[in-house]
Amino acid sequence: MPAAVKLENVVKRFGALEVLKGISFDIEAGQVVALIGASGSGKSTALRCINRLEQIQSGTIEVCGHRVEDPALDPRSLRQDVGMVFQSYNLFPHMTVGENVMLALKRVKRMDRSAARKVAERVLRQVGLAEKIDNYPEQLSGGQQQRVAIARSLAMAPKVMLFDEVTSALDPKLTGEVLRVMEDLAKAGMTMVVVTHEMAFARRAADKVIFMHQGHVHEVGDASILTTPETPELREFLDHDL
Ligand SMILES: Nc1ncnc2c1ncn2[C@@H]1O[C@H](COP(=O)(O)OP(=O)(O)OP(=O)(O)O)[C@@H](O)[C@H]1O
Ligand SMILES: [Mg+2]
Repeated sequence: MPAAVKLENVVKRFGALEVLKGISFDIEAGQVVALIGASGSGKSTALRCINRLEQIQSGTIEVCGHRVEDPALDPRSLRQDVGMVFQSYNLFPHMTVGENVMLALKRVKRMDRSAARKVAERVLRQVGLAEKIDNYPEQLSGGQQQRVAIARSLAMAPKVMLFDEVTSALDPKLTGEVLRVMEDLAKAGMTMVVVTHEMAFARRAADKVIFMHQGHVHEVGDASILTTPETPELREFLDHDL
C-alpha cells in the first residue's frame, strides 16, 4: 500500500534562511503521527508544505497520490483530501456553528442546504456539539469553538488531517475536551499529523513520533522514544518541555 504521506529530502527556504534541511518521513493510512520539537524547528512549515501552503525548493512530497511539489498540481484537489486545523480556529462570527460547518460543503462540494445540514449534524455529533448547531461562535467556549473547527474540517471528508498546536490557546480543561475528540478520530482510523506540545497525548495516541531539531528530522520512533530517547537533543527537549 502506498504511504498516505511521504516526504523525501524536502528543502524549504525563506530567502537565505533554510528552515527544512532535507527532511524525509512517511505516514501510513490510519497512522497518527506526533510532530514535536522546539520553537522554530520547522514543524509548522513542514505541515504547511504538506498542504502546499508553502512551495518547497527541492525534494518530493506525496499525499494520497498527489504530487504536492508539482507546480501543475491544483491545490484545491489536494485540499479536498487534506484537512487542516490551526491554533486559531477562525470561525466566522456572524454565522452560526451550523452555517460555519456547512459553508464549504455548499461552496466547494455544491451540496444543497438540507444535505449540508445533515452532514453538519453528523460531524457536530462526532465532536460532541450537536446541540450547538444554531448557536453563534461567541456563545461557545474556546474548546467548543476549536471542536467546531475540527467538525468543519471533518465535514469535507478528508483522508488526512493536519493539526497545528490546536490546543495551545486553551486552558487545561478545554484542552482535554479537544484532545479527547482527536483521540476518538484517531481510533476511528483517521490519518493524522499532529504538531503538539502535549506529550501525554502523544504517548497515548501516536503510532509514530517525529522529533524535529533545527530543520532536520532528528529522531523517529514509536511513542517509547518519549520515555527513552536516543539522542541528547530529544532528551533535553523532553526535560524542558515536561
Ligand atoms: N513566512 C516565513 N517567512 C520567513 N521565515 C519564516 C516564515 N515562516 C516561518 N519562518 C521561519 O522558519 C523557522 C521555522 O518556523 P516554524 O513556524 O516552522 O517553526 P515551528 O517549529 O512551528 O515553531 P513553533 O513551535 O514556535 O510554532 C523559524 O525560524 C521561522 O521564523
Ligand atoms: Mg509552529
